[in-house]
Amino acid sequence: MTVTDETEVSMALDVAAVRSDFPILTRDVAGVPLAYLDSANTSQKPRAVVDAISDHLLRHNANVARAMHTLGAEATGAFEAARAKVAAFVGAARPEEIVFTKNASEALNLAAHTLGAGLRPGDEIVVSVMEHHSNIVPWQLLAQRTGATLRWFDITAEGRLDLDRARAEGLVNERTRIVSLTWVSNVLGTVNPVARIAGWAHAVGATMVVDGSQGVPHLPTSVAELGADLLAFTGHKMLGPTGIGALWGRYELLASLPPFLGGGEMIEVVRMDGSTYAPPPHRFEAGTPPIAEAVGLGAAVDYLTALGMDAVAAHEREITEHLLTGLSQTPGVRLLGPADLDDRGGAVSFTLTTADGFEVHPHDVMQLLDSRGVAVRGGHHCARPLHDRLGIATSTRASSHAYTTTAEVDRLLDALAYTRDFFGGAR
Ligand SMILES: Cc1ncc(COP(=O)(O)O)c(C=O)c1O
Repeated sequence: MTVTDETEVSMALDVAAVRSDFPILTRDVAGVPLAYLDSANTSQKPRAVVDAISDHLLRHNANVARAMHTLGAEATGAFEAARAKVAAFVGAARPEEIVFTKNASEALNLAAHTLGAGLRPGDEIVVSVMEHHSNIVPWQLLAQRTGATLRWFDITAEGRLDLDRARAEGLVNERTRIVSLTWVSNVLGTVNPVARIAGWAHAVGATMVVDGSQGVPHLPTSVAELGADLLAFTGHKMLGPTGIGALWGRYELLASLPPFLGGGEMIEVVRMDGSTYAPPPHRFEAGTPPIAEAVGLGAAVDYLTALGMDAVAAHEREITEHLLTGLSQTPGVRLLGPADLDDRGGAVSFTLTTADGFEVHPHDVMQLLDSRGVAVRGGHHCARPLHDRLGIATSTRASSHAYTTTAEVDRLLDALAYTRDFFGGAR
Protein backbone atom coordinates (compact mmCIF):
# COMPACT_ATOMS: atom_id res chain seq x y z
CA MET A 1 0.00 0.00 0.00
CA THR A 2 1.38 3.42 -0.77
CA VAL A 3 1.25 6.12 1.85
CA THR A 4 -0.12 9.29 0.29
CA ASP A 5 0.70 12.87 1.28
CA GLU A 6 -0.64 13.77 4.78
CA THR A 7 -1.56 17.26 3.61
CA GLU A 8 -3.99 16.09 0.95
CA VAL A 9 -6.95 18.36 0.29
CA SER A 10 -10.36 16.72 0.11
CA MET A 11 -12.86 17.74 -2.57
CA ALA A 12 -15.24 18.68 0.22
CA LEU A 13 -13.14 19.97 3.10
CA ASP A 14 -9.70 21.51 3.53
CA VAL A 15 -8.62 18.63 5.73
CA ALA A 16 -5.19 20.10 6.45
CA ALA A 17 -6.88 23.23 7.84
CA VAL A 18 -9.32 21.11 9.86
CA ARG A 19 -6.45 19.02 11.27
CA SER A 20 -4.60 22.14 12.39
CA ASP A 21 -7.52 22.78 14.78
CA PHE A 22 -6.91 19.44 16.55
CA PRO A 23 -3.58 19.59 18.42
CA ILE A 24 -3.81 15.91 19.47
CA LEU A 25 -3.49 14.84 15.82
CA THR A 26 0.09 16.11 15.72
CA ARG A 27 1.29 13.82 18.50
CA ASP A 28 3.31 10.64 18.11
CA VAL A 29 2.35 7.19 19.32
CA ALA A 30 4.99 4.45 19.45
CA GLY A 31 7.46 6.85 17.85
CA VAL A 32 5.36 7.54 14.74
CA PRO A 33 2.58 10.06 14.00
CA LEU A 34 -0.79 9.06 15.42
CA ALA A 35 -3.36 7.77 12.90
CA TYR A 36 -6.63 8.10 14.84
CA LEU A 37 -9.29 5.82 13.36
CA ASP A 38 -11.51 5.44 16.45
CA SER A 39 -13.91 8.37 16.11
CA ALA A 40 -17.02 6.16 16.36
CA ASN A 41 -15.81 5.43 19.89
CA THR A 42 -15.09 9.06 20.71
CA SER A 43 -14.12 11.92 18.43
CA GLN A 44 -11.18 14.27 18.96
CA LYS A 45 -11.84 17.87 20.06
CA PRO A 46 -10.93 21.07 18.22
CA ARG A 47 -9.19 23.85 20.11
CA ALA A 48 -12.36 25.98 19.88
CA VAL A 49 -14.23 23.50 22.09
CA VAL A 50 -11.48 23.34 24.71
CA ASP A 51 -11.18 27.16 24.66
CA ALA A 52 -14.93 27.63 25.11
CA ILE A 53 -14.95 25.30 28.14
CA SER A 54 -11.91 26.91 29.72
CA ASP A 55 -13.20 30.46 29.06
CA HIS A 56 -16.50 29.50 30.68
CA LEU A 57 -14.84 27.99 33.75
CA LEU A 58 -12.23 30.74 34.12
CA ARG A 59 -14.48 33.76 33.48
CA HIS A 60 -18.20 32.96 33.76
CA ASN A 61 -18.55 30.04 36.16
CA ALA A 62 -21.62 29.95 38.42
CA ASN A 63 -24.61 27.68 38.87
CA VAL A 64 -27.46 28.09 36.40
CA ALA A 65 -31.03 29.25 37.01
CA ARG A 66 -30.62 29.75 40.77
CA ALA A 67 -27.82 32.38 41.14
CA MET A 68 -29.24 35.91 40.79
CA HIS A 69 -25.87 37.63 40.37
CA THR A 70 -23.98 38.62 37.21
CA LEU A 71 -22.03 35.40 36.92
CA GLY A 72 -25.20 33.38 37.49
CA ALA A 73 -26.91 35.25 34.68
CA GLU A 74 -23.90 34.75 32.38
CA ALA A 75 -23.72 31.02 33.13
CA THR A 76 -27.47 30.61 32.61
CA GLY A 77 -27.25 32.59 29.36
CA ALA A 78 -24.37 30.42 28.09
CA PHE A 79 -26.15 27.17 29.06
CA GLU A 80 -29.40 28.17 27.37
CA ALA A 81 -27.53 29.52 24.32
CA ALA A 82 -25.89 26.08 23.98
CA ARG A 83 -29.35 24.49 24.10
CA ALA A 84 -30.52 26.79 21.29
CA LYS A 85 -27.46 25.89 19.16
CA VAL A 86 -27.99 22.16 19.64
CA ALA A 87 -31.70 22.58 18.85
CA ALA A 88 -30.93 24.40 15.60
CA PHE A 89 -28.30 21.77 14.67
CA VAL A 90 -30.93 18.99 14.60
CA GLY A 91 -33.73 21.15 13.19
CA ALA A 92 -35.80 21.33 16.39
CA ALA A 93 -38.83 23.63 16.37
CA ARG A 94 -37.73 25.32 19.62
CA PRO A 95 -34.82 25.16 22.12
CA GLU A 96 -37.13 23.70 24.82
CA GLU A 97 -37.24 20.49 22.77
CA ILE A 98 -33.64 19.72 23.80
CA VAL A 99 -33.14 17.97 27.15
CA PHE A 100 -29.51 17.86 28.23
CA THR A 101 -28.38 14.50 29.58
CA LYS A 102 -24.93 13.15 30.37
CA ASN A 103 -24.73 11.00 27.21
CA ALA A 104 -26.87 9.05 24.73
CA SER A 105 -27.26 6.17 27.17
CA GLU A 106 -28.91 8.45 29.73
CA ALA A 107 -31.09 9.97 26.98
CA LEU A 108 -32.31 6.50 25.96
CA ASN A 109 -32.92 5.53 29.60
CA LEU A 110 -34.90 8.75 30.02
CA ALA A 111 -36.98 7.82 26.96
CA ALA A 112 -37.60 4.26 28.17
CA HIS A 113 -38.43 5.32 31.71
CA THR A 114 -40.88 8.06 30.80
CA LEU A 115 -42.53 6.46 27.74
CA GLY A 116 -42.91 3.25 29.68
CA ALA A 117 -45.14 4.75 32.36
CA GLY A 118 -48.33 3.47 30.70
CA LEU A 119 -47.12 0.12 29.33
CA ARG A 120 -48.97 -3.10 30.23
CA PRO A 121 -48.48 -6.85 29.70
CA GLY A 122 -49.22 -7.61 26.04
CA ASP A 123 -47.80 -4.31 24.79
CA GLU A 124 -44.78 -4.61 22.51
CA ILE A 125 -41.52 -2.70 22.17
CA VAL A 126 -39.54 -3.14 18.94
CA VAL A 127 -35.77 -2.67 18.55
CA SER A 128 -33.28 -4.33 16.17
CA VAL A 129 -30.54 -6.90 16.57
CA MET A 130 -27.96 -4.32 15.40
CA GLU A 131 -28.50 -1.98 18.37
CA HIS A 132 -25.86 -0.74 20.78
CA HIS A 133 -26.48 -2.11 24.30
CA SER A 134 -27.68 1.40 25.23
CA ASN A 135 -30.67 0.89 22.95
CA ILE A 136 -31.40 -2.65 24.16
CA VAL A 137 -30.93 -2.82 27.92
CA PRO A 138 -33.19 0.16 28.88
CA TRP A 139 -36.02 -1.50 26.88
CA GLN A 140 -35.31 -4.90 28.45
CA LEU A 141 -35.55 -3.27 31.88
CA LEU A 142 -38.80 -1.59 30.86
CA ALA A 143 -40.21 -4.89 29.59
CA GLN A 144 -39.27 -6.57 32.89
CA ARG A 145 -40.93 -3.78 34.90
CA THR A 146 -44.17 -3.68 32.92
CA GLY A 147 -44.64 -7.17 31.47
CA ALA A 148 -44.38 -5.77 27.94
CA THR A 149 -42.68 -7.91 25.27
CA LEU A 150 -39.43 -6.95 23.54
CA ARG A 151 -39.24 -7.86 19.83
CA TRP A 152 -36.59 -7.03 17.24
CA PHE A 153 -35.79 -6.56 13.56
CA ASP A 154 -33.38 -9.13 12.15
CA ILE A 155 -30.74 -8.20 9.52
CA THR A 156 -30.06 -9.40 5.98
CA ALA A 157 -26.83 -11.08 4.85
CA GLU A 158 -25.41 -7.72 3.82
CA GLY A 159 -26.15 -6.15 7.19
CA ARG A 160 -29.31 -4.16 6.53
CA LEU A 161 -32.60 -4.32 8.44
CA ASP A 162 -34.64 -7.25 7.12
CA LEU A 163 -37.77 -5.31 6.24
CA ASP A 164 -39.36 -8.16 4.25
CA ARG A 165 -39.15 -10.52 7.19
CA ALA A 166 -40.41 -7.83 9.56
CA ARG A 167 -43.41 -7.21 7.32
CA ALA A 168 -44.11 -10.93 6.86
CA GLU A 169 -43.99 -11.48 10.64
CA GLY A 170 -46.09 -8.39 11.42
CA LEU A 171 -43.30 -7.13 13.66
CA VAL A 172 -44.85 -3.68 13.98
CA ASN A 173 -48.55 -4.20 14.73
CA GLU A 174 -51.45 -2.89 16.80
CA ARG A 175 -49.77 -4.11 20.03
CA THR A 176 -46.61 -2.07 19.31
CA ARG A 177 -46.25 0.93 21.63
CA ILE A 178 -42.61 1.92 21.02
CA VAL A 179 -40.14 1.39 18.15
CA SER A 180 -36.54 2.33 18.99
CA LEU A 181 -33.93 2.05 16.26
CA THR A 182 -30.44 3.25 15.60
CA TRP A 183 -30.11 5.69 12.70
CA VAL A 184 -26.59 4.47 11.83
CA SER A 185 -25.11 1.19 13.13
CA ASN A 186 -21.94 1.62 15.18
CA VAL A 187 -20.64 -1.74 13.88
CA LEU A 188 -22.07 -2.34 10.40
CA GLY A 189 -22.17 1.30 9.34
CA THR A 190 -25.66 0.69 7.92
CA VAL A 191 -27.84 3.81 7.63
CA ASN A 192 -31.32 2.60 8.51
CA PRO A 193 -34.52 3.83 6.78
CA VAL A 194 -35.81 5.32 10.02
CA ALA A 195 -38.33 7.64 8.34
CA ARG A 196 -39.93 4.62 6.69
CA ILE A 197 -40.06 2.66 9.93
CA ALA A 198 -41.39 5.77 11.71
CA GLY A 199 -44.24 5.61 9.18
CA TRP A 200 -44.95 2.01 10.24
CA ALA A 201 -44.80 3.00 13.93
CA HIS A 202 -47.07 5.99 13.55
CA ALA A 203 -49.60 4.01 11.51
CA VAL A 204 -50.23 1.83 14.60
CA GLY A 205 -50.04 4.73 17.08
CA ALA A 206 -46.56 3.81 18.40
CA THR A 207 -43.83 6.27 19.39
CA MET A 208 -40.65 6.32 17.28
CA VAL A 209 -37.38 6.69 19.19
CA VAL A 210 -34.16 7.10 17.22
CA ASP A 211 -30.65 6.52 18.54
CA GLY A 212 -28.72 9.19 16.63
CA SER A 213 -25.36 8.58 18.32
CA GLN A 214 -23.64 7.61 15.07
CA GLY A 215 -25.77 9.75 12.76
CA VAL A 216 -25.95 13.26 14.24
CA PRO A 217 -22.13 13.67 14.39
CA HIS A 218 -21.69 12.80 10.70
CA LEU A 219 -24.81 13.63 8.67
CA PRO A 220 -27.00 16.72 8.25
CA THR A 221 -29.83 16.14 10.74
CA SER A 222 -33.46 17.11 10.48
CA VAL A 223 -35.72 15.61 13.14
CA ALA A 224 -38.69 16.25 10.83
CA GLU A 225 -37.09 14.27 7.98
CA LEU A 226 -36.15 11.45 10.35
CA GLY A 227 -39.79 11.16 11.39
CA ALA A 228 -38.69 10.67 15.00
CA ASP A 229 -40.66 11.51 18.11
CA LEU A 230 -37.53 11.30 20.28
CA LEU A 231 -33.87 11.44 19.16
CA ALA A 232 -30.95 10.59 21.45
CA PHE A 233 -27.36 11.65 20.76
CA THR A 234 -24.08 12.15 22.57
CA GLY A 235 -21.66 15.10 22.62
CA HIS A 236 -18.33 13.32 22.73
CA LYS A 237 -18.79 11.69 19.31
CA MET A 238 -19.55 15.06 17.65
CA LEU A 239 -16.31 16.89 18.58
CA GLY A 240 -17.75 17.94 21.95
CA PRO A 241 -16.67 16.97 25.46
CA THR A 242 -17.66 13.88 27.42
CA GLY A 243 -20.38 14.23 30.06
CA ILE A 244 -23.02 15.81 27.81
CA GLY A 245 -25.66 14.31 25.55
CA ALA A 246 -29.18 15.23 24.53
CA LEU A 247 -32.65 13.93 24.01
CA TRP A 248 -34.64 15.87 21.44
CA GLY A 249 -38.40 15.40 21.70
CA ARG A 250 -41.48 16.91 20.08
CA TYR A 251 -42.56 19.50 22.63
CA GLU A 252 -46.12 18.19 23.06
CA LEU A 253 -44.73 14.69 23.62
CA LEU A 254 -42.18 15.88 26.19
CA ALA A 255 -44.90 17.89 27.93
CA SER A 256 -47.03 14.74 28.24
CA LEU A 257 -44.27 12.66 29.87
CA PRO A 258 -43.68 12.20 33.61
CA PRO A 259 -40.35 13.18 35.22
CA PHE A 260 -37.32 10.88 35.04
CA LEU A 261 -35.10 11.82 38.01
CA GLY A 262 -36.32 13.91 40.93
CA GLY A 263 -34.46 16.79 42.58
CA GLY A 264 -33.74 20.49 42.30
CA GLU A 265 -34.53 22.45 39.12
CA MET A 266 -37.12 19.97 37.79
CA ILE A 267 -39.94 21.11 40.07
CA GLU A 268 -42.56 23.84 40.13
CA VAL A 269 -43.78 23.58 43.76
CA VAL A 270 -42.63 21.08 46.39
CA ARG A 271 -44.74 20.36 49.47
CA MET A 272 -44.35 17.48 51.87
CA ASP A 273 -47.54 15.90 50.52
CA GLY A 274 -46.56 16.12 46.86
CA SER A 275 -44.86 18.16 44.13
CA THR A 276 -45.63 19.65 40.76
CA TYR A 277 -43.11 19.66 37.97
CA ALA A 278 -41.51 22.25 35.69
CA PRO A 279 -42.33 22.22 31.99
CA PRO A 280 -39.84 20.62 29.55
CA PRO A 281 -36.91 20.64 29.25
CA HIS A 282 -36.22 21.42 32.93
CA ARG A 283 -38.64 18.71 34.12
CA PHE A 284 -36.05 16.19 32.93
CA GLU A 285 -32.91 17.97 34.20
CA ALA A 286 -32.79 17.29 37.95
CA GLY A 287 -29.94 18.90 39.89
CA THR A 288 -27.01 20.95 38.64
CA PRO A 289 -26.61 20.11 34.93
CA PRO A 290 -23.31 19.66 33.04
CA ILE A 291 -22.94 23.41 32.38
CA ALA A 292 -19.39 23.74 31.04
CA GLU A 293 -19.93 20.55 29.02
CA ALA A 294 -23.05 22.03 27.41
CA VAL A 295 -21.07 25.18 26.54
CA GLY A 296 -18.43 22.90 24.97
CA LEU A 297 -21.09 21.07 22.98
CA GLY A 298 -22.42 24.42 21.78
CA ALA A 299 -18.91 25.28 20.53
CA ALA A 300 -18.66 21.87 18.81
CA VAL A 301 -21.95 22.52 17.05
CA ASP A 302 -20.67 25.96 15.95
CA TYR A 303 -17.52 24.32 14.62
CA LEU A 304 -19.41 21.60 12.68
CA THR A 305 -21.87 24.17 11.33
CA ALA A 306 -18.99 26.33 10.08
CA LEU A 307 -17.51 23.30 8.28
CA GLY A 308 -20.95 22.46 6.90
CA MET A 309 -22.48 19.06 7.61
CA ASP A 310 -22.88 18.38 3.88
CA ALA A 311 -19.12 18.87 3.49
CA VAL A 312 -18.40 16.68 6.54
CA ALA A 313 -20.63 13.92 5.16
CA ALA A 314 -19.07 14.17 1.68
CA HIS A 315 -15.57 13.99 3.14
CA GLU A 316 -16.39 10.96 5.26
CA ARG A 317 -17.91 9.29 2.23
CA GLU A 318 -14.56 9.63 0.43
CA ILE A 319 -12.73 8.19 3.42
CA THR A 320 -15.20 5.32 3.75
CA GLU A 321 -14.92 4.52 0.06
CA HIS A 322 -11.13 4.40 0.34
CA LEU A 323 -11.41 2.20 3.43
CA LEU A 324 -13.94 -0.21 1.91
CA THR A 325 -11.89 -0.54 -1.30
CA GLY A 326 -8.65 -1.08 0.62
CA LEU A 327 -10.14 -3.60 3.04
CA SER A 328 -11.87 -5.55 0.27
CA GLN A 329 -8.44 -5.93 -1.41
CA THR A 330 -6.66 -6.96 1.81
CA PRO A 331 -6.25 -10.75 2.05
CA GLY A 332 -7.87 -12.32 5.11
CA VAL A 333 -10.30 -9.46 5.77
CA ARG A 334 -14.04 -10.19 6.13
CA LEU A 335 -16.13 -7.01 6.03
CA LEU A 336 -19.16 -7.07 8.32
CA GLY A 337 -21.44 -4.32 6.98
CA PRO A 338 -22.65 -3.27 3.52
CA ALA A 339 -19.74 -3.34 1.06
CA ASP A 340 -21.08 -0.46 -1.06
CA LEU A 341 -21.51 3.19 -0.16
CA ASP A 342 -25.29 3.30 -0.48
CA ASP A 343 -26.85 4.21 2.85
CA ARG A 344 -23.51 3.53 4.49
CA GLY A 345 -21.93 5.42 7.37
CA GLY A 346 -18.26 5.58 8.25
CA ALA A 347 -17.95 2.81 10.88
CA VAL A 348 -16.27 -0.12 9.13
CA SER A 349 -15.87 -3.40 11.06
CA PHE A 350 -14.10 -6.55 9.97
CA THR A 351 -12.37 -9.72 11.07
CA LEU A 352 -8.83 -10.74 10.08
CA THR A 353 -7.78 -14.31 9.29
CA THR A 354 -4.19 -15.39 8.59
CA ALA A 355 -3.06 -17.34 5.53
CA ASP A 356 -3.22 -20.56 7.55
CA GLY A 357 -6.82 -19.92 8.62
CA PHE A 358 -6.24 -18.56 12.13
CA GLU A 359 -8.58 -15.73 13.11
CA VAL A 360 -6.53 -13.03 14.81
CA HIS A 361 -8.23 -11.76 17.97
CA PRO A 362 -9.20 -8.08 17.62
CA HIS A 363 -7.28 -7.28 20.81
CA ASP A 364 -4.13 -8.60 19.11
CA VAL A 365 -4.99 -6.67 15.95
CA MET A 366 -5.51 -3.52 18.04
CA GLN A 367 -2.22 -3.98 19.88
CA LEU A 368 -0.16 -4.51 16.73
CA LEU A 369 -1.83 -1.57 15.00
CA ASP A 370 -1.15 0.56 18.07
CA SER A 371 2.52 -0.39 17.88
CA ARG A 372 2.43 1.27 14.43
CA GLY A 373 0.62 4.38 15.67
CA VAL A 374 -2.82 3.33 14.35
CA ALA A 375 -5.74 3.60 16.82
CA VAL A 376 -8.83 1.45 16.12
CA ARG A 377 -11.33 -0.35 18.35
CA GLY A 378 -11.54 -4.10 18.87
CA GLY A 379 -14.17 -6.08 20.79
CA HIS A 380 -17.95 -6.37 20.57
CA HIS A 381 -18.41 -2.56 20.44
CA CYS A 382 -21.29 -2.80 22.95
CA ALA A 383 -23.23 -4.79 20.33
CA ARG A 384 -22.96 -8.34 21.61
CA PRO A 385 -26.33 -9.56 20.20
CA LEU A 386 -25.25 -8.36 16.74
CA HIS A 387 -21.98 -10.27 16.97
CA ASP A 388 -23.88 -13.39 18.14
CA ARG A 389 -26.17 -12.96 15.12
CA LEU A 390 -23.14 -12.71 12.82
CA GLY A 391 -21.69 -15.88 14.38
CA ILE A 392 -18.56 -14.16 15.70
CA ALA A 393 -17.46 -13.08 19.16
CA THR A 394 -15.73 -9.81 18.32
CA SER A 395 -14.46 -7.62 15.49
CA THR A 396 -12.11 -4.75 14.73
CA ARG A 397 -13.55 -1.36 13.74
CA ALA A 398 -12.04 1.63 11.92
CA SER A 399 -13.96 4.88 11.84
CA SER A 400 -13.49 8.46 10.70
CA HIS A 401 -14.49 12.08 11.17
CA ALA A 402 -13.89 15.41 9.45
CA TYR A 403 -10.15 15.29 10.23
CA THR A 404 -9.45 11.78 8.88
CA THR A 405 -7.20 11.43 5.83
CA THR A 406 -6.86 8.69 3.22
CA ALA A 407 -3.18 8.59 4.26
CA GLU A 408 -4.31 7.38 7.69
CA VAL A 409 -6.44 4.71 6.04
CA ASP A 410 -3.37 3.61 4.05
CA ARG A 411 -1.41 3.39 7.31
CA LEU A 412 -4.15 1.09 8.66
CA LEU A 413 -4.06 -1.11 5.54
CA ASP A 414 -0.25 -1.42 5.74
CA ALA A 415 -0.43 -2.26 9.44
CA LEU A 416 -3.10 -4.91 8.80
CA ALA A 417 -0.91 -6.62 6.19
CA TYR A 418 1.92 -6.55 8.74
CA THR A 419 -0.39 -7.99 11.45
CA ARG A 420 -1.54 -10.81 9.20
CA ASP A 421 2.04 -11.75 8.35
CA PHE A 422 3.07 -11.48 12.00
CA PHE A 423 0.44 -14.02 13.13
CA GLY A 424 0.25 -16.34 10.17
CA GLY A 425 3.27 -16.02 7.95
CA ALA A 426 2.95 -14.54 4.46
CA ARG A 427 2.02 -17.07 1.78
C1 LIG B 1 -25.12 3.62 18.29
C2 LIG B 1 -24.73 4.02 19.67
N1 LIG B 1 -25.68 4.21 20.58
C3 LIG B 1 -25.39 4.60 21.84
C4 LIG B 1 -24.09 4.81 22.23
C5 LIG B 1 -23.83 5.22 23.65
O1 LIG B 1 -23.21 6.47 23.71
P1 LIG B 1 -22.71 6.99 25.15
O2 LIG B 1 -21.70 5.98 25.61
O3 LIG B 1 -22.09 8.31 24.88
O4 LIG B 1 -23.88 7.01 26.02
C6 LIG B 1 -23.05 4.60 21.33
C7 LIG B 1 -21.64 4.75 21.74
O5 LIG B 1 -20.77 4.03 21.29
C8 LIG B 1 -23.38 4.20 20.01
O6 LIG B 1 -22.43 4.00 19.09
